Amino acid sequence: MFPCVLNGPVRCWMKHCTSRRAFTAVRPRIVLGIETSCDETGAAVLDETGIILGESLHSQKQTHLDTGGIIPTVAQRLHGENISRVVQEALGRSGIEPNELTAVATTVKPGLSLSLGIGLEFSLNFVRLHEKPFIPIHHMEAHALTVRMLHPVDFPFLVLLVSGGHTLLALAKGIDEFLLLGQTLDVAAGDALDKIARSLSLRNHPECSTLSGGQAIELLAKEGNRLAFHFKSPMGQIYDCNFSFAGLRNQVTMAIRKKEREEGVETGQLLSCVKDIAAASQHTVASHIAKRTHRAILFCKSKGLLPQHNPTLVVSGGVASNEYIRQILKIVTDATGLHLLCPPSKLCTDNGVMIAWNGIERLKQGKGIMSHTEEVKYEPKAPLGLDITSEVKDAAIKVPPLKLRINS
Ligand code: KG4
Ligand code: ZN
Repeated sequence: MFPCVLNGPVRCWMKHCTSRRAFTAVRPRIVLGIETSCDETGAAVLDETGIILGESLHSQKQTHLDTGGIIPTVAQRLHGENISRVVQEALGRSGIEPNELTAVATTVKPGLSLSLGIGLEFSLNFVRLHEKPFIPIHHMEAHALTVRMLHPVDFPFLVLLVSGGHTLLALAKGIDEFLLLGQTLDVAAGDALDKIARSLSLRNHPECSTLSGGQAIELLAKEGNRLAFHFKSPMGQIYDCNFSFAGLRNQVTMAIRKKEREEGVETGQLLSCVKDIAAASQHTVASHIAKRTHRAILFCKSKGLLPQHNPTLVVSGGVASNEYIRQILKIVTDATGLHLLCPPSKLCTDNGVMIAWNGIERLKQGKGIMSHTEEVKYEPKAPLGLDITSEVKDAAIKVPPLKLRINS
């Protein structure tokens, strides 16, 4: 036995480690995960216990902030320029050679075609060169399951995914079995926050120039008075679990233009009330999400879809890193007896780790592992699970009023 000087008598996969040889007989399965569905080029090497052996992430955020939104051809070019380096970095940091990998897992759906194409092409070349199995990954399933890398959450659990591209509620019944309870009918919550931030010209705010729209709104809202503006809560009289944020975005834009006229402010300059508008917008988004989530919980309970013991709501996606939204959701889960779990912010936004973890989950259950890759295609549009949104709507559950207030 050669105990590892760093990690003791447990497995150690550092390249230099003398303990390595002694443990090769019981070596855990290792997956390389690759993510390029939108504007992050991510790669990670993970072992089957969820230990991150190496990772790397290149964010295109700054470029897209500069151009006022994601231009797919620009995203494609940047993925192409960075993917090889990002994968090499993740592998290099892990000390794992390609031939030691059990499989490669890559996002193939849903996402921007041009971005997905780069990740898939790179991955297929890689698995063919190194003769490794390939595991195609659904980006939203990966967001939903990331939490299981950190906490022992059993199926079924309720999951709320809120990002720049998606807002949805689903019941996770298994690693590839989801019931879709509700989704956005127009834009995603993160997209609405990004556009509101742009209308407020927050890029020109000294504290916000490098932040995403959602992050900028959260930061400024901390010092804003949300009651200074009143925005109508979306879909108040519709008793389903779908979302809508386009109307709110228009309301806020109109309020901004009105204030600009009143204050004689040119487009691009900052209004005196940016913090109040940020706070009111964030609150309206949070309470809309909270009400639909509350209804989803009541629906699942009424149908016996959640376990009696430790029923759990998992919240993930970029917007889930918003502390205010998490606190509002905590009011809902406290009132309904659910346990609220959110992965750390770093794992809520797009990354290679969540893709690698989904690959591990699939390897463990022997699901979706491909040794022939000729047929693999990317799919820009791919629903999550079985759509039961109309059943939820038909149940027309009225949500009892809750005081969605946070004492700060
Ligand atoms: O999951 P993600 O990294 O990418 C996808 O859209 O798939 O999410 C990015 C979105 C952006 O719209 C960004 O503004 C939002 O998440 N976001 C936030 C926060 N951090 C990122 N929204 C609200 N509060 C935050 N702290
Ligand atoms: Zn995402």
